[in-house]
Amino acid sequence: MSEPVIDLHSHVLPGIDDGPETIEGSLALARAVADSGVRTLMATPHVSWRYPNAAETIAPLVQEVNARVQAEGIELEIRAGAEIAMTRAAELDPDELSRLTLGGGEWLLIECPFTPVATGMDALVLDLQRRGHRVVLAHPERCPAFHRDRRPLEMLVRGGVLTSITAGSLVGRFSGEVQRFAMQLVREDLVHNVASDTHDTGRRPPGMASELEQAGLGALSEWLTQSVPAAILDGGPIPPRPAYEAPSARRSWKPWQRQKT
Ligand SMILES: [Fe+2]
Repeated sequence: MSEPVIDLHSHVLPGIDDGPETIEGSLALARAVADSGVRTLMATPHVSWRYPNAAETIAPLVQEVNARVQAEGIELEIRAGAEIAMTRAAELDPDELSRLTLGGGEWLLIECPFTPVATGMDALVLDLQRRGHRVVLAHPERCPAFHRDRRPLEMLVRGGVLTSITAGSLVGRFSGEVQRFAMQLVREDLVHNVASDTHDTGRRPPGMASELEQAGLGALSEWLTQSVPAAILDGGPIPPRPAYEAPSARRSWKPWQRQKT
C-alpha cells in the first residue's frame, strides 16, 4: 500500500507569518489542501528575523487548527515544522533548533536565500549536520545564487542534503527562468521532494499533483510527494529515485509561455 500524500511545506497557521491572517483563512486553506488529495500537511511558518516565530508558539497553533479541521470533518492532519531562514538558523540555540524539525524528526527545512550570493550556506549546513541534524533545502530553484552557479547545490546534495522544490515553479508560476531551472534540477537528479509552499487559496495555492502532471513528472509523483516525505518524517532511509523518462527541455516548452518571458 502506498503512503498518503504529504505536503512538506506550507504557511497554514493564522496570524504568524505571511500565510492566512485568521483561523477561518487557515480552515479554507486546509480544506483546499485536503481537496487536492494531500492527507498530511506540514505547517512550516517562517522562522526568520522578519517573523521571529518559535516552537512554543507554533505547537499550540497547530493544535488549535487541527482541532478545528477535525471538527469540520476535513480529512487532513497538520503537523508542526518550520521554514528556517539561513541567517536565523545560524543564530538559534541548539534546543530551539531541535524543536523546529519537521514533525519532531531529524530533518530541518532551511530556506534558501533570495540573494545573488549564498555565502555561508555550505558552512551552515555542515555545522547543522555536525550537530546531528539533517537538512532539506526549501525551493533552491528560486535562489538566484544557484541560478548563477549550481555547483554548491550539487556539493550539498552529495553531502546528504535533500531539496524540496515548489510545485508552482514547475509550471512557471514564478518565472520562466525559475521553471527552466527547476526542470534542469529534476533532470540532474537534484530534486527529492515537491511541496506546495502554499500561503493562500489564490496567488500561492495548495496542491502538487496537477503541476507535476503538467510538467511531465507524473511518473515521479509518488516518490516526490509520498515515499520521500514519509521517510523524512519517519526518519527512515530515503528511497532511491525510480527510473523515469525525463521530459526534454523542448517538451516543457509552451508557445504562450515564450510570449510571456
Ligand atoms: Fe515557504
